[in-house]
Amino acid sequence: MAEDPVNVNEYQELARQVLPKMYYDFYAGGAEDQYTLKENVEAFHKITFRPRILIDVSKISLSTTILGYNVSAPIMFAPTAMHKLAHPEGEVATARAAAACNVIMILSYSSMCTVEEVASSCHAIRFFQIYVYKRRDITAQMVQRAERSGYKAIVLTVDVPKLGRREADIKNKMIAPPLKNFEGLLSTQAVSDKGSYLEAYADSTLDASLSWKDVRWLRSITKLPILIKGVLTHEDAIKAVEAGVAGIVVSNHGGRQLDYAPAGISVLEEVVHAVKGKVPVFVDGGVRRGTDVFKALALGAQAVLIGRPVVYGLAAKGEAGVRRVTEMLKDELELTMALSGCPTIKDITRGHVITDRERLHSSL
Ligand code: FNR
Repeated sequence: MAEDPVNVNEYQELARQVLPKMYYDFYAGGAEDQYTLKENVEAFHKITFRPRILIDVSKISLSTTILGYNVSAPIMFAPTAMHKLAHPEGEVATARAAAACNVIMILSYSSMCTVEEVASSCHAIRFFQIYVYKRRDITAQMVQRAERSGYKAIVLTVDVPKLGRREADIKNKMIAPPLKNFEGLLSTQAVSDKGSYLEAYADSTLDASLSWKDVRWLRSITKLPILIKGVLTHEDAIKAVEAGVAGIVVSNHGGRQLDYAPAGISVLEEVVHAVKGKVPVFVDGGVRRGTDVFKALALGAQAVLIGRPVVYGLAAKGEAGVRRVTEMLKDELELTMALSGCPTIKDITRGHVITDRERLHSSL
């Protein structure tokens, strides 16, 4: 493979070459048969374009706003756990790349750098993702620490009442590394007699009783806007709006939780229609190309989240790798907009794409 990757997928190969197998498998893997993991990428391949011609595209602008914040592109860094396994600088390097590219970073609850370390490392616009632990006091403290450290929103991930069955992690006896945020609050030393130490840690900490009333609890302990991550149906989208969230992330957790869950991009429109513009809708899973970002926006997303591409960039080349991955996606999006006749993000409409379902219906 070429030394300098020319697309995001080639960063995955570089990451595979530099990472210990246990860590690469942890980042790359999905749950059980990995159907959803593959479907996340393949679902994008089933959407094609209806490009418009003879529109002045000599100037293209990718800039947009997310929850009122001006950003350079409709791309955010998804929360992904444990960046120090990818690179010694961990989440601090990721945050610096987000700042350099002027995109939003969502810091994972399972980060290896603390919320304060990441906050003081740069001026990136940061959101903070949380899981709700059985020890509610710990989650409440984390929310307050994030609020104090200038994070702009809380992203409540709701698709992990239990950790998905990731068989590579079970085989590799994946470690549960120390999470500095919880030092002195909680032991991250998990005991496992069946395989993945990570799974054992998750089992001992996550609150599987989490329910809709807890969104109200979360709202009562923070002034920050709350996004809910892990919605895949119109029924839950409506409930989320009723619960007062400020945004919805359509996501199957990168195919790592419920296998055979649909690809986010396949159910995005269902959610967008249910929400009726009341709150912004975001989507993640399998975004690897600028064309994917365009397709998501055409189907009604305000922005996409990218998970693994960030981690692969970080593993391969640290902060510079994350910057490069982001720039590649931005460059590809810019080209897609030019070739589709869309000079600005607002010009991207539903009429610019056609899904396989629509093609099937029109040929019947
Ligand atoms: C994740 N994801 C995730 N989500 C979350 O809310 N909190 C977390 O700590 C993590 N950790 C995590 C680790 C790794 C290694 C991966 C790959 C994913 C899910 C993540 O936010 C996002 O939903 C998916 O990664 C999106 O899919 P792609 O872009 O990886 O295909």
